[in-house]
Amino acid sequence: MRQRSTAKRALAAAMALALLAFPALYGCAPRQEAAPEDAVLLGFSQLGWESAWRIGNSLDIQEAAERAGVQLMFENAQQKQENQISAIRSFIAYQVDVIAFAPIVEYGWDTVLQEAKDAGIPVLLTDRFIVTDDPSLYVGYVGADFLEEGRKAGDYLIEKADREGLTDLKIVELSGTLSSSPMQQRGEGFRAAIAGDARFEIVETMSGDFLRSKGKECMQILLERHEEIDVLYSHNDAMTLGAIEAIEEAGLEPGKDIIIITVDGEQAAIDLLQAGKINCVVECTPMLGDIIMDLAKKLAAGEEIPRVTNPEERAFTEFDEDLMDIAPRGY
Ligand code: AHR
Repeated sequence: MRQRSTAKRALAAAMALALLAFPALYGCAPRQEAAPEDAVLLGFSQLGWESAWRIGNSLDIQEAAERAGVQLMFENAQQKQENQISAIRSFIAYQVDVIAFAPIVEYGWDTVLQEAKDAGIPVLLTDRFIVTDDPSLYVGYVGADFLEEGRKAGDYLIEKADREGLTDLKIVELSGTLSSSPMQQRGEGFRAAIAGDARFEIVETMSGDFLRSKGKECMQILLERHEEIDVLYSHNDAMTLGAIEAIEEAGLEPGKDIIIITVDGEQAAIDLLQAGKINCVVECTPMLGDIIMDLAKKLAAGEEIPRVTNPEERAFTEFDEDLMDIAPRGY
């Protein structure tokens, strides 16, 4: 672990107390009150609160830090890249042992990550990727394989069409936050899976920013614009839940009149899959906390970590024999 002065540690503890006292300033207070003198100090910048997935991810990270005895400085950027950059700068100033963050978008991190590198602090990307010409600016990534998630969504659709002899399917796509890695790769993986298959046509893609309210608004617009919509492919459950409201308000039956494919696996989406209103849920787990703490401890001890760590994930579909036996999701 890097040597941190007692004064710096005291400052870090004071900051943790300040966060506890004024959580509104940071969007989310650390849940730990005291940690041993030699505990690893991890600065974590969460990107926001946009979905139940994100809330589950934040809680899991905080609980995992407690279990692992890692001292966590947790800041919530409220959907703004500039807040994440400020948080990372504050972690550098406090000389944390490790910085981890979930980058809201892919571009624009090089300057601040160079500052962390110059300060000798390893940076771990979690949940989302960045695009940079200098891969030495981060030591590793832990999170989903978004391309694979997109492919699973496409594979389900092909299976559905094969089984039911469907042709000429008009698809609308609700994409996530523009320029974010899940938005790019879930779109790309899906297109790769259905490429060259004349049964499928993506008639429009609209960004709902991973938000339920925008998912509903976008779906209302899409339903007005397109006379025929056979499939909705939505990049997350929050937008899907909003879109389903719009579909039902338009007098249509989700899961029957429109095939619904979604990503995440929140409990609410699994409930709708079991009720026949969603046809396929591609899992993206937010439960990354234990892996992050394990990697943070290794980094603080100067050990090497894998460049990429993907959790195991699956797809749940209407064709699963054990559809009614899915364990509670916890988010
Ligand atoms: O980056 C992961 C995505 O971000 C999840 O699919 C979504 O729900 C969240 O907002």
